[in-house]
Amino acid sequence: MSGFDVAKVKADFPLLARTVHGGPIVYLDSAATAQKPQVVIDAMTTYYETINANVHRGVYEIAEAATNAMEAARVRVGRFIGAPDPETEVLFTKNATEGLNLVARSWGGANLGPGDAVVLTQLEHHANIVPWFQLQAEKGFEIRWIPLTPDARLDLTDLDRLLDGAKVLALTAMSNVTGTLTPVRELTAKAHAAGAVVVLDACQYVPHLATDVAALDVDFAAFSGHKMLGPTGVGVLWGRHDLLDAMPPFLGGGGMILNVDLDGFIPADLPAKFEAGTPPVAEIVGLHAAVDYLDALGMEAVREHEVSLTAYALRTLTERFGEQLTIHGPAEPAARGGVLSMALDGVHPHDLSQVLDQHAVCVRPGHHCAKPLMKVLGVGATARASFYVYNDTDDVDALADALDEAAHFFSF
Ligand code: ALA
Repeated sequence: MSGFDVAKVKADFPLLARTVHGGPIVYLDSAATAQKPQVVIDAMTTYYETINANVHRGVYEIAEAATNAMEAARVRVGRFIGAPDPETEVLFTKNATEGLNLVARSWGGANLGPGDAVVLTQLEHHANIVPWFQLQAEKGFEIRWIPLTPDARLDLTDLDRLLDGAKVLALTAMSNVTGTLTPVRELTAKAHAAGAVVVLDACQYVPHLATDVAALDVDFAAFSGHKMLGPTGVGVLWGRHDLLDAMPPFLGGGGMILNVDLDGFIPADLPAKFEAGTPPVAEIVGLHAAVDYLDALGMEAVREHEVSLTAYALRTLTERFGEQLTIHGPAEPAARGGVLSMALDGVHPHDLSQVLDQHAVCVRPGHHCAKPLMKVLGVGATARASFYVYNDTDDVDALADALDEAAHFFSF
């Protein structure tokens, strides 16, 4: 089924060996956060045990080793996503949310005003909506929305009008709710032709598909470490060198200046300009190990595994539950990632998720930080199962069995 041995992969993740309520854990919430392989945990422990020091400050041996480890990670991550100039274009942030806020505040703050338009899609996570609303309140630009088809794909019928005069197109590469993959390359070409910069929320994309920011031709791409087998507390913002270079700093503080005197400051060059304060060095080292791990599996194989598992899940759940179970998003596995937002007839997603938990099946209930999308789908919440490299058909069968128990439980 895969280009890699899933049982062997699973054995690399210590948490997946534990039990919950007496049964082996079935972890189906990787869209919220992925589990960590031992190599990532070890890389961070070794960092703390051997070279922990602040970076870009000390001149002693371990401080230089820590700095080198962080800069090696920057290049490694940059190569993983096809960054043309990793040394200057890869910025370490706290998470993808911070990366998207950075673009809105810094690029948007300097370039947007009354009469301008920012185009978003109805698939967006709050992290790619709220920063634009916050800035809109100050700058007074218009926000336009790309609508959805009934199966939660982007409806591009009116795209030319929506992009006419737009300065920004900010979109997700893959929905965290429906798994919808958006046609990024096609949209980027049209946005650029209209004179807009393209901001990509690549949070659910980089962990699951081979990514080449140059081929996608976007201008900015933000993602989080913790969704791609790395630790929490570190994210990445990639941006085109010329755009980042012209942008004002986002956060001020230590490490981001060339000079400060009583009259003001001069910002440092890239990437330091956007990395105020002590960075999450151990987490960056952990992210490096996560990228090595994913690369060893091969991102083509990762995608192939997830398409095949998603196809199995859609088939199994449809066969077993028919119309009793709604799964939002495209029916075609190749058009989506391994994210299944479900509604079981007559059962609230929170109740459903609690019953699944009794069977050791971990799914996420709620609005998934995408309330506008919930409104478009006509629901308040869903129960979401999401897959990754360590999931297999047994996990899908366990989900189906637990759903069956829930359906019986709530039918009384
Ligand atoms: N954005 C994450 C999710 O979709 C937390 O669950």
